[in-house]
Amino acid sequence: MTAGLTVDEALALARQLGIERGDAQTLVAHLTGQSRAWLITHGDTRVPGVEVALRRLADGEPLAHLTGWQPFHGLLLQVTAATLIPRPDTEALVDWALELLAALPDEPAVVDLGTGSGAIALAIKAACPRARVTAVDLSVEALAVARANGERLGLPVDWHHGSWFKPLAGRRFDLVVSNPPYIAGDDPHLPALRHEPITALTPGGDGLADLKALIDAAPQHLLPDGWLLLEHGWDQADAVAQHLAQRGFAEASLRRDLAGRARASGGRWQD
Ligand SMILES: C[S@@+](CC[C@H](N)C(=O)[O-])C[C@H]1O[C@@H](n2cnc3c(N)ncnc32)[C@H](O)[C@@H]1O
Repeated sequence: MTAGLTVDEALALARQLGIERGDAQTLVAHLTGQSRAWLITHGDTRVPGVEVALRRLADGEPLAHLTGWQPFHGLLLQVTAATLIPRPDTEALVDWALELLAALPDEPAVVDLGTGSGAIALAIKAACPRARVTAVDLSVEALAVARANGERLGLPVDWHHGSWFKPLAGRRFDLVVSNPPYIAGDDPHLPALRHEPITALTPGGDGLADLKALIDAAPQHLLPDGWLLLEHGWDQADAVAQHLAQRGFAEASLRRDLAGRARASGGRWQD
């Protein structure tokens, strides 16, 4: 077994491999079990396994898979190859949900459909502890990660395994929120996302199948004046707005991501 490169040698190799400096520092710090600041004064320390890890990163493996962690909305979440890596854009969906919850009294009921690592459900529960939060995923493996994140963070969520609303027969919510698979089956970006589960990324076809299925089914699970919030692709906003209106949702509204592109839509259900 080799003793490994030193911290300074590893950061030099990362530069050669075209790895962004912050990512390299995060990976090296993770392998040493120390902070990024610690690296500055420990350039001579050897780091076993760092060369292989840097080459995997340069080869497209996500940093979050190499460290096992991803920050999201102020939480640090465990992620695995069974979960989507939560994206910063999805924090806008959480913020929208929190704005709606702030206007509701008592203990509003929320469900996160397709919870993955538990990101949306846990971020909502952390920021709005009085909300009763339920979460569903079709992947047993992802749900185990979400459950473990909830336990480690001390955030109680009612976890369910199954397809969309199926495990929630007869239950109604003030807020239904989802970031479902929505990438089109022939999207040229899909190959670059090969390290994440394909079932978390795309329903195939034009990518709209799960979004439409959720819009169709949501009214049976919304309380009067309850909201449905959906993340979607930047070019899917018109199709989602049209489907929300056809299904009878009022106040169809739109949220944009950090780059100003339409990335989430919602509507209020008036029974
Ligand atoms: C785009 S990922 C979102 C994960 C997480 N909510 C996030 O924002 O990071 C979609 C999730 O939906 C789940 N999923 C796909 N089909 C589903 C279905 N029919 N019922 C429930 N969950 C499903 C996938 O397993 C995956 O975890």
